[in-house]
Formats: sequence, C-alpha cells, structure tokens
Amino acid sequence: MPEAIECKNFNKTHPVHLKGKDFIQLADFTKEEIHYLLDVALELKSMQKQGKPHPYLNGKVLGMIFEKSSTRTRVSFEVGMLQLGGHAIFLSSKDIQLGRGETVSDTAKVLSRYVDAIMIRTFGHEMVEELAEHASIPVINGLTDLQHPTQVLADLLTILEHKGKLEGLKLCYIGDGYNNMPHSLLEGAAKVGMNISIASPPGYLPNGAIAEQAIQAAKQSGCTVTITNDPVEAIKNADVVITDVWTSMGMEAETEQRLKAFASYQVNEELCKHAKEDFIFLHCLPAHRGEEVTAEIIDGSHSVVFDEAENRLHAQKAILKLLLE
Ligand code: CP
Ligand code: NVA
Repeated sequence: MPEAIECKNFNKTHPVHLKGKDFIQLADFTKEEIHYLLDVALELKSMQKQGKPHPYLNGKVLGMIFEKSSTRTRVSFEVGMLQLGGHAIFLSSKDIQLGRGETVSDTAKVLSRYVDAIMIRTFGHEMVEELAEHASIPVINGLTDLQHPTQVLADLLTILEHKGKLEGLKLCYIGDGYNNMPHSLLEGAAKVGMNISIASPPGYLPNGAIAEQAIQAAKQSGCTVTITNDPVEAIKNADVVITDVWTSMGMEAETEQRLKAFASYQVNEELCKHAKEDFIFLHCLPAHRGEEVTAEIIDGSHSVVFDEAENRLHAQKAILKLLLE
C-alpha cells in the first residue's frame, strides 16, 4: 500500500469517494481516505500559494453554528469557503432559534433546505451526531467536548510537511487526556500508523472506548498506543510533542483543581530533553504560556504552532472540497 495516494490533479479518477459524507470523527475514515484528504490539502495549499484560483465550490454555502468561542475555526472555514468560490454564514447559537429551544432535528432539516453543508462547534458530541442524523447535507464537527477532528487533520498535515512521513513516527501528548484533542489524536495517529503516547494525571486519562478503538486500529496499522501517568516515559524519543490547555472551554469552574492536578505535566525544556533532538512542538491554540507549556518551548525553535494554525485552512478546504464537490 502506498504511504500517500497520488493526487496529481483533481480530475484523476480515484477510488476514494467522500462526497456527501459527514466529518464527525477520524475513526469514521480509512487510512487511505485520511491520506487522500492530506494530499488534496497539499495540492490546494500549493495552488493558493501560487495564486492559482481554485473555485471548486462555486456558489456553495456553508452554515457555521457556534455554541463556543473560536478564532481559528471560524476564520479558516470562512476564508476557505471564500477561496473555493463559495460562501460561509456565521450562526451564533445565541442569535438563532436553536439557542431558544428549537430542536436540533428541526434545525437540521431547515438548514438542509438552504445551505450545502453545516459546520458545528458545540459541547456534547451527541448533538453533532443528532444534527447529522437529521440533516440531508454533510455535517462537519468543528469541535465538541469529545473530539476535534479538523484540528487533528491539520496537525497530521503539519507533521507530514515537517517530517516527510507519518508512519513509524512517535507522537506524544502531555496533559488532559480526557479531552477533544487527545481523543482525535488517538484516532488519527492509530489510523495512519503513527505510534502515540499519552501522559495524563490519574483521573484525566482518555475515554476508555476511544482508547480501546485506537488500540484496535493501531494493531491493524502496525503501531502502538501507550497511555501512562508518566510524562518522561511518554515523551522519550518522541518526534512530535503536543499539549493543550489544562482547562478547556466549558470547564472554567474546575480551573483551580486542574492547575494543581496538571502541575507536573508542563511541557518545558527539562521535559523536552527526553524527546528526539529534532522534535517538533504542536499546540492547537489558544495557549496559556506558563501553564501547559513554557514560552521557551512554544516560542522556541522546535515550535511549528503557526504552520499548524495555517494548515487549518488548507486541511478544511480539502474536507469541504471532497464532501461537497
Ligand atoms: N484550535 C482551535 O480550534 O482554535 P479556535 O478555538 O480559535 O477555533
Ligand atoms: N481543548 C480545547 C481546544 C480549543 C481549540 C478546548 O476544548 O477548549
């Protein structure tokens, strides 16, 4: 099996068909589909850098429902649709009837009559699944409490660009294990054959079902999943080091308790001495310097966080193109 599927031009017949699918979690995609998305992202990125117009979604409209704040997700989806020749509509749940109790199913059916796809950022993952069940158009998960798949596709793209491959690398995530980023990283890494190690304090380990599914996927792709309380063990010889905030959106009431629980899980120079010399550091952002990561690391020579943020745009344009065109 080729490590990456060739994608020299978009007219080429390809066995991967994603048209009409939802993008809710990476576990729903095969290794080939993930590589195809990454290849299309690279192609679209190159076209954009060369100033070549690429209006593949001429006249298409994306509805974007936000129940939580966002900088990157909102701007990159909106700019992405514009660059693809389409349009995006920002729908704050405070302003639409969903926020006043209109049902998710009615919202899904109504929006399906107006727009070509829905992107949603919300709290409960079940809400995205319910929206997708009742919508007749693709639904894209722009972050839930459980998953952040568009971010992890951008992370895989960033790792591929910096390391030239994914398979066989060691990715390590330090911090809050029961959260959207580590869950989507578990699914993505296991699918593409990247060894993944997660270090979290007791009580903050990843969701058992997601971890179990990743272990099974890793067996198929020939890589390993390690979940531990020991950050040194997790980071040892890592090619890629990732962390995320200790207090995610919606968990603000637990801030004090979390600051204490994660105190020895900071990504700093001392801890990173155990990673490979040429490791890269990723963070989905926003970051809290001095908490989950020190300024020396996030603003230092190993950090690729702004390439990663830019890649949200290119990865999501690939998702939109393949789901909608
Ligand atoms: N990484 C990420 O999703 O950023 P935003 O919350 O700014 O969208
Ligand atoms: N885990 C973070 C990610 C932010 C993009 C949160 O959910 O707030």
